[in-house]
Amino acid sequence: MRYEGKTGVITGGASGMGRLTAWRLLEGGGNAVIADANPAAFPALEEAFAAHKERLMCRACDVRDYGQIQATVDACMAKFGKIDYLFNYAGGESARMCGSTGNFVEKPVEVIEWGLDVNLKGPVLFSRAVLPHMMEQRSGVIILLGSITGHEGSAHAVDYAAAKSGLMTGLVKSLAQLGAPYNIRACCVAPGPVLTRPAMANMKTLIGRAAEPEEIVDLVEFLISDGAGSITGSTYLIDGGRSCMTH
Ligand SMILES: NC(=O)c1ccc[n+]([C@@H]2O[C@H](COP(=O)([O-])OP(=O)(O)OC[C@H]3O[C@@H](n4cnc5c(N)ncnc54)[C@H](O)[C@@H]3O)[C@@H](O)[C@H]2O)c1
Repeated sequence: MRYEGKTGVITGGASGMGRLTAWRLLEGGGNAVIADANPAAFPALEEAFAAHKERLMCRACDVRDYGQIQATVDACMAKFGKIDYLFNYAGGESARMCGSTGNFVEKPVEVIEWGLDVNLKGPVLFSRAVLPHMMEQRSGVIILLGSITGHEGSAHAVDYAAAKSGLMTGLVKSLAQLGAPYNIRACCVAPGPVLTRPAMANMKTLIGRAAEPEEIVDLVEFLISDGAGSITGSTYLIDGGRSCMTH
């Protein structure tokens, strides 16, 4: 019951690593608010998580829209009274997520804007919405999801790389500076390939395999724990050694 009395808001929590994080919070006795732009996934989610239904809230929320973010935070405060953790999982490579093809200069501008807005603007705005509550509580942890692509750059996924590197340096450090006087920490986890979908198995790593989602969420759970109390403003690559490959 390590999360008893704790509340986490999980953007992108209807799928992949966000869904697993919500499950771990609930299994640990905590409250989980899933904020996702795909409410069609909620009935299956609510069925799978039925054992914890009093501590689960699913909210249709597009992280590009501050009004929807604020409404989600207000609903969380009304039901659970606090926000201990914000997990910013909503994101992804825009061409894949929007079903676009072609290289960067062939991508429709709307697709590029989607990539910047969901991956970067969303975490900035969501942090803006939860921080007043965390500051008043004088506690909280904000988790950002970067990517190895934000470290390497990508001729194809230009907007994704730009947005993720923004989280990995400017946003995580700024939130750490802002939050420290209020006992609020900010950490960024930057995965290499993760098997939230089979295609990620094709990306090279030094260890010869992609990570399991559980391995990423294990690190996230450590970073929100009291054991990580001295960690803030840092980005952790968890990439199977991809960043130190020489060929
Ligand atoms: N899977 C990987 O290999 C990998 C690698 C590096 C980084 N990441 C990052 O980790 C995060 C989670 O990845 P995943 O593979 O678990 O995700 P996923 O694709 O399984 O799920 C993403 C979720 O975000 C939601 N979403 C999309 N647009 C949204 C919006 N505008 N507002 C709210 N929700 C929205 C989707 O509905 C979906 O439920 C992403 O930010 C991704 O960029 C993933």
